[in-house]
Amino acid sequence: MAKSQVSMTVNGKKVEALVEPRMLLIHFLREQLHLTGPHIGCDTSHCGACTVDLDGKSVKSCTMFAVQANGADIRTIEGMAAADGTLHALQEGFREMHGLQCGFCTPGMIMRAYRLLQENRIRPKMKSASASPAICAAARATRTSSKPFNTPPPRSAACRSRRPQNERHDPHLRRTRRKACRAWAASGSASRTSAFVQGKGNYVDDIKLPGMLYGDFTRSPHAHARVKKIDTTKAAAVPGVVAVITAETLKTVNLAWMPTLAGDVQMVLADGKVLFQNQEVAFVIAEDRYTAADAAELVEVEYEGLPCNVDPLKAMSANAPVIREDIKDKKEGAHGRASTPTTSSIGRPETRPRQTMRSPRRTSRSRR
Ligand code: FES
Repeated sequence: MAKSQVSMTVNGKKVEALVEPRMLLIHFLREQLHLTGPHIGCDTSHCGACTVDLDGKSVKSCTMFAVQANGADIRTIEGMAAADGTLHALQEGFREMHGLQCGFCTPGMIMRAYRLLQENRIRPKMKSASASPAICAAARATRTSSKPFNTPPPRSAACRSRRPQNERHDPHLRRTRRKACRAWAASGSASRTSAFVQGKGNYVDDIKLPGMLYGDFTRSPHAHARVKKIDTTKAAAVPGVVAVITAETLKTVNLAWMPTLAGDVQMVLADGKVLFQNQEVAFVIAEDRYTAADAAELVEVEYEGLPCNVDPLKAMSANAPVIREDIKDKKEGAHGRASTPTTSSIGRPETRPRQTMRSPRRTSRSRR
C-alpha cells in the first residue's frame, strides 16, 4: 500500500514519517515513535486509555488515522513532565494519592483530566450523570495535590458524593485514608507508581523485541457451522506473512485442544465445527499487524451452517441443537449431570422458587 508523508509536532518535537493511510494514530505513536504511554485498552473506542491531547482537544488516538493528524500538535503522557523530569501537577497528584490500580489506563485518565482542567470543565461535568470515573479519579488526585494548578481544584457536590459517605463526615477516616496514601507514596511501590503516571509502565503490549511478529485471527461469521474446508493458500502468499495456522497444524504437535479450568476441554482453533460466532478459525503470523489483518481476511473457509441456540432456556429443551457433539453423552463432570454433595443438596431443597428473568442486551443508544 502506498505510504503518505506526515508531519506533526509530538511533545514539542517535530516528527516526519511515512505511514500507511490506514495506520491508526495510536499505532503510529506506539510503534513508530515508541511512545508507549498511551495504551490500547479496547477494540470499541470506549475505554479512553489511548487519550492524547491534539490541537487543544482530547482525542482517542485509536479512533483517528495518523494521516488525519498531519500538521497537528500532539501531547502524550510522555510530554507532561517538565524537561528536568519534574512531574506535572496532575501526575504528582495521581502519584501522591496512588490514584490508580494497575496503571494501564492512567495515562489516558491524566490526559483527559488535563484537558478538562484546561477548559475549566470539570466542575459542571461532574454534576452530570455521565461524568466518567476517570474524571472523578482525576478530580480527587488534583484536589489532594500539593502543587499549584492553573484552574481551581474541583469541589462539586457530585464529586464529594463519590467519596465514601462515612469519610465525608468523619475526619478520622479522612486522615486515615490520606495517611495510608502517603505511606504508599513513601514505600518502595511508589517508584512504580511514579513510572505509571509517566506512561512508563512496561506492559506486555509495550514489549518490543527484535524480530517480533504479529498475529491476527480469521473468525467465524456463523454461530454454529461445520467447517468443510479451509484454504490458506492466498493468505500464506501475502508478502510478510510467516505462517498461517489452523487446527490441522496444531494437531501435528498435539495442541489442537486444551484443558479448561472447569475440567472441560476446548478447541484452540475451530476443529471440524465452529460453536459460536467469531470463534477463531485460523491464526496468521506476520511481520506487522496490518499484514496479519490483511492475510486473515484472505483465509477461505467453507462452512455448512447448522441450527444454533440463541435462547438459553430453549437450549435446554430435548430437541435443541446439540452444539458440543463431543460431550453430548457425557453424564458426569463439566457439562454433565451434577453429582457433588453441594449440587445434589441444591437439587433437593425444601422450597424451590422459580423465576425467569430476561436481560436483553442493549446498547447505550437503545437505552435512550
Ligand atoms: S483503546 Fe479504548 S478508546 Fe482507544
